[in-house]
Amino acid sequence: MVAPLFGCAGFAATPRLGFQAIPPSAEDKVIVPPGYRADVLYAWGDATGMAPVEFRWDASNTAAEQALQAGMHHDGMELFTLSGNRALLAVNHEYTDEKLLHPQGIQGWTAEQVRKSQAAHGVSVIEIEFTDRWRVVRPSKYARRITAATPMSVSGPAAGSALLGGREALGTINNCAGGRTPWGTYLTCEENFNGYFVHGGAIPPEMRRYGITARGFGYRWHEFDPRFDAQANPLEPNRFGWVVEIDPYDPQSRPVKRTALGRIKHEGAMVTLAKDGRVAVYMGDDEQFEYIYKFVSSQPFDGKRRDLLDSGALYVARFDGDGTGRWLPLPSTPEGLVHARLAADAAGATKMDRPEWIAVHPRNGDVYVSLTNNSRRGRDGLPGADAANPRAPNVFGHIVRWTEAGGDAAASEFRWSIFALGGEDKGFGSPDGLWFDPGGTLWIQTDVSPGVLNRGPYAKLGNNQMLAADVTTGEIRRFLTGPNGCEITGATMTPDRRSLFINVQHPGEGTASNWPDFRPGGRPRSATVVIRREDGGLVGS
Ligand code: FEO
Ligand code: CA
Ligand code: CA
Repeated sequence: MVAPLFGCAGFAATPRLGFQAIPPSAEDKVIVPPGYRADVLYAWGDATGMAPVEFRWDASNTAAEQALQAGMHHDGMELFTLSGNRALLAVNHEYTDEKLLHPQGIQGWTAEQVRKSQAAHGVSVIEIEFTDRWRVVRPSKYARRITAATPMSVSGPAAGSALLGGREALGTINNCAGGRTPWGTYLTCEENFNGYFVHGGAIPPEMRRYGITARGFGYRWHEFDPRFDAQANPLEPNRFGWVVEIDPYDPQSRPVKRTALGRIKHEGAMVTLAKDGRVAVYMGDDEQFEYIYKFVSSQPFDGKRRDLLDSGALYVARFDGDGTGRWLPLPSTPEGLVHARLAADAAGATKMDRPEWIAVHPRNGDVYVSLTNNSRRGRDGLPGADAANPRAPNVFGHIVRWTEAGGDAAASEFRWSIFALGGEDKGFGSPDGLWFDPGGTLWIQTDVSPGVLNRGPYAKLGNNQMLAADVTTGEIRRFLTGPNGCEITGATMTPDRRSLFINVQHPGEGTASNWPDFRPGGRPRSATVVIRREDGGLVGS
């Protein structure tokens, strides 16, 4: 007998980890504890449910077909309930591997290849249903792909300014982690947008501050799409680096870029409510020596309002060595928001070791952030992982926790400490995904880069993995190990806590993988995986 899917399973006062820990693994598969199963739900190239389309194993699907199929490199995602045993999943597609995306890889580069690459970016909204297992509903009136070419609105204080040249933008890229609002919309976050642009001239300092270079990351979109030539179109980079709000329940709705939340390399957008009902959004800027930001809305959430992310105050964090911290206000002007990094420099924010996901404890409001690693650490005295040697490179990363003054997400001061250090002896390193389930278990996902995975200091830590932490006792237990070359990212659950969804991103990167299909001559595919207990019980407990 299956329990009602979306009844709330409640909150245990003292969450306990109830599964058997698994060892590190270098096997090309997803491994979960005894008594659990992990099933692939939605892989790159699978039909969304918009129209019938088959994945072609030689990657010969056209750009037009790709726009109806799952994009590449799944990352953050959120689940939105429907009635019965149905739900919507909004899934980010962070970037592409052009060698896998096209039959001939990057040979003979064409406009069609650029269009296909752009169509493999963005977000999927899919409808899913649980019967005896989860499946994608096809066709579905909700199914939707948002890509690097989807028309969007721009709202908030910078919209319409000379820095943006209007109130419209085309597409979203490098959608990393995300978030959800209390009014049931999805937030997708534009991270390393700079890498899609090239600039052939003297690069202005504001562009340099965001990492625009002569050659970009090698996507070669600019060869057929002049938008991505930052010299010819200097406003176009300003149209990326935002948090984008999407209504998953309305496939006709236009995504909205919310400028009040600032333009950075957004990792994620963790939304919580302040004591007076105002909306607080915690956001990391994932790059070495970048900052942690907080937005607090002007108006409280009243159960109905949906425009709360257009007006409010933006802050950046200063962490002091005595365990206290302050939220430093930034100007909510077009200049201050479009160039939020420069405003944060001027405010005196604390340079961090690559802020990734931020998670808020569902009961006490404590905030946790993954600082994934920092190989260049040394020139700045930021509060860090190695108190005895604060200038040593942060090889394994760490997780910092803070408590807002009065337990109020709108506070201007906080107290912080280190919750966990990565390390060979700790069993993990390079924490990235960080998420509290509704029961209060903290889930940690790792993104050790393919260049060091299973090598050097990471030789004994195996493939990337997912762990569960009991934040009251500090115990951390390994729950899942991923296939070769992947990172584990994205985490969401049904409210009954019996189905956990995660993403396996970039299997085979820097190494060989044939996951999940294991077809001769096949291609590794990023995919959403659903994990359940064989007895149907609460996942993790
Ligand atoms: Fe897209 Fe910082 O990971
Ligand atoms: Ca990430
Ligand atoms: Ca990552």
